[in-house]
Amino acid sequence: MVRAGIWGVGKAIPEKVLTNADLEKMVDTSHEWIIERTGIVERRIASPEQSSSDLASAAALDALRAAEVDVGELDMIIVATATPDMVFPATACLVQAEIGAKNAAAFDLLAGCTGFIYALDLAVRAVETGAYKRVLVIGADVLSKITNWRDRTTCVLFGDGAGACVVAPVKRGGVISTYLGADGSGGDKLSVPAGGSRLPLSAEVLEQGLHYIHMVGKEVFKFAVRIMGEASLEALQRAGLQPEDVDLLIPHQANIRIIDAAAKRLDLSPEKVFVNVDRYGNTGAASIPIAVHEALAQGGLLPGKRVVLVGFGAGLTYGACVLEWNSREDRLL
Ligand code: ACO
Repeated sequence: MVRAGIWGVGKAIPEKVLTNADLEKMVDTSHEWIIERTGIVERRIASPEQSSSDLASAAALDALRAAEVDVGELDMIIVATATPDMVFPATACLVQAEIGAKNAAAFDLLAGCTGFIYALDLAVRAVETGAYKRVLVIGADVLSKITNWRDRTTCVLFGDGAGACVVAPVKRGGVISTYLGADGSGGDKLSVPAGGSRLPLSAEVLEQGLHYIHMVGKEVFKFAVRIMGEASLEALQRAGLQPEDVDLLIPHQANIRIIDAAAKRLDLSPEKVFVNVDRYGNTGAASIPIAVHEALAQGGLLPGKRVVLVGFGAGLTYGACVLEWNSREDRLL
C-alpha cells in the first residue's frame, strides 16, 4: 500500500478585520472579557458578496501552486464546510468549476470544525488504495453569515477563512494514523436549528433567529477540553508514538483555554503548540489547514517533524491525525 502525505498547503482569508474594540460597539462585551475567556483579539470577516466557495477556490489554487500540481491532475476534491454556498450543488462542485478541475470528483463533507480532519482521513485512504492520486482537501467556512451579531455569547468567537492541501503519494513519512469519532447525542449543544428539512426557513423561523448558530458554550467547552487530549492520545497510540515524540501540536483554534488544556494533557511545552486563535478566532473547518499553512510559513514544519492535528466541532465530532512532514524529495511521482 502506498503512503499518503501533504504535497502543498494554501490559505485564503478575507481582508476585513473585526477587532474586539469593534465588537464592543456592537454588543455588551469588552476586550478584556474576550481575551480572558477566549484568547481572541481579532478575526477576519468576509465581504457581503464573498462565499465559502470563493475563499475555498483561492485557497485551492494556493495549495496547487505550493504542491506544483496541475489542476487537471486532480482526481478528487473534498470541501469540509458547515457554511456551503447553498444546500446544493455542493460547494466542492462550485470550486471544481471555478478552478477548472475537470477530471475531479467533488463532494462536501459536514463534520463541523472537525471537517478538515475527516476529509483528510478520506483523502489519505483514497490515495493509499491507489484509486486516487491527487486529492484536494479544503476546509472553508464563512461562519459570520450564520452568526447572530446581537448574541454576545457567540458573535465574539467566530471568523471566516479557508485552507487547503493536496494529498498525494509519498515515499516515506506522510500521514501515519488518524482517529475519528462522534457523539451525536450532543448535537443540540451546537447547531443551526433551521434551514434544513426539520425546520424549513419561514418568516417565523427568521423572526426567532433559528437560522443562526445556537450553542451551549459551557457544555461544548467541557466536551472540547476532554476530547482534544483523548483524541490526540488515541491517534498517537495508533501511530505507535508517545506524546514526547510530538514536535508540533496543531489544534483547532476555538479558544486558547481549550488549546492549553489539550497541551497540558499531552504535557507539551508552549513552543510545541501552534496558536493563531488571537488573529482569526474560530474559522470552523478552515481553522486547522490555515494553522498548518502558517506553521509551515514560520518554519515550524521541517521535513521529518512529527505533527498532531486535532479538532472538535458540531456533531459533536472529534478527530486527530499524526503525520510526519514531508520534503519535496519524498514525493512519489
Ligand atoms: N462578553 C461579556 N460577557 C459575556 C459574553 C461576552 N461576549 N458572553 C457571555 N458573557 C457572560 C455570560 O452572560 C455570563 O454572565 P452571567 O455569569 O452573568 O450569566 C458570563 O459571561 C460567563 O459566561 P460563561 O458562558 O460561563 O463563560 P465561559 O467561561 O464558559 O466562556 C465561552 C464562554 C467562551 C463561549 C466558552 O464556553 C467556550 O469557549 N465554549 C466553547 C465554544 C466553542 O469552542 N465552540 C466551538 C464550536 S466548533 C464548531 O463546529 C463551529
